[in-house]
Amino acid sequence: MSDSQTGPASEAVPRDGGQRWTVLELLRWTTDHFAGKGIDTARLDAEILLAHALGSSRMQLYVDFEKPIEAPERASFRELVQQRASLRIPVSQLVGEKEFWSLPLRVTADVLTPRPDTETLVQAALDRMTPDDAGWRVCDIGTGSGAIALALAQERPNAHIVATDISEAALKVAASNAESLQLSERVKFVEGDLFGPLDGEEPFDLIVSNPPYLARAEAEMLAPELRHEPDEALFGGEDGLEVLRPLVAGASGELKPGGHLLVEIDPEQADAVAAQCRDAGLEEIAPLRDLTGQIRVIAARVIERGR
Ligand SMILES: C[S@@+](CC[C@H](N)C(=O)[O-])C[C@H]1O[C@@H](n2cnc3c(N)ncnc32)[C@H](O)[C@@H]1O
Repeated sequence: MSDSQTGPASEAVPRDGGQRWTVLELLRWTTDHFAGKGIDTARLDAEILLAHALGSSRMQLYVDFEKPIEAPERASFRELVQQRASLRIPVSQLVGEKEFWSLPLRVTADVLTPRPDTETLVQAALDRMTPDDAGWRVCDIGTGSGAIALALAQERPNAHIVATDISEAALKVAASNAESLQLSERVKFVEGDLFGPLDGEEPFDLIVSNPPYLARAEAEMLAPELRHEPDEALFGGEDGLEVLRPLVAGASGELKPGGHLLVEIDPEQADAVAAQCRDAGLEEIAPLRDLTGQIRVIAARVIERGR
């Protein structure tokens, strides 16, 4: 996107012989450009990327609508716009950050960008961990950026939290997020497959997980942005349930009597995962809905201890 070749929409043609672009003009042009490329969140993405290029905030852009953008800032913005529009790199990876549960989390291509859907699971966990539950033992399986574990650590200062992941690279990102949020002392990160790295851990009051649950069979139909996130964070085998199955089956062995399991799912997996919970001897099985009304989490409990 050079100033001469961008060909902005007519209402956004820059004044001063094509040399001068204001914040508003750049936002309008970029929004049109992104929308033309099929990006649903065109205006939002344009604002986040421009604020990032200017070292500013989205709020400040609105104050500075008429401010001209200098050439060096236009150059860094142009680079971001190209990567977003042509390569479909997610905005979170371009700016290196995503807010989750009001916590700023560093995000790289080694982790899933935390999704707002997952806040349903965090809320369900907090509903079960009242602030008086001092010393609750909580395990987050497949922590990725650390999103769930760090949100719970932030909200429940007395909980003991263990967070696992099969990906060493993801755990490095999670640990750096814990460090910058000053929560390192509160969360123990361990690497390995599902419950494997929990050998020697006492049973838990609560196990939470947002496992990979997309079906590999549907990979071709997914948004191009997902190609930039790790496969092991997205895909649960051919049917999407290959990580969920052993996770649900093994959970009761890691929970105290009365302990809770909360797993995030695709809404279409609700019946299958509820059945897996029943087969695993779990009780009080309940679907929990997200803000759009979709079933997003299956909750269950251990009544008899299975370990
Ligand atoms: C959907 S991402 C969730 C990341 C984070 N918890 C969140 O909600 O944003 C799933 C995570 O599980 C990890 N994972 C995949 N298979 C696993 C396994 N068998 N054992 C432990 N972690 C696994 C992936 O590396 C990835 O970080």
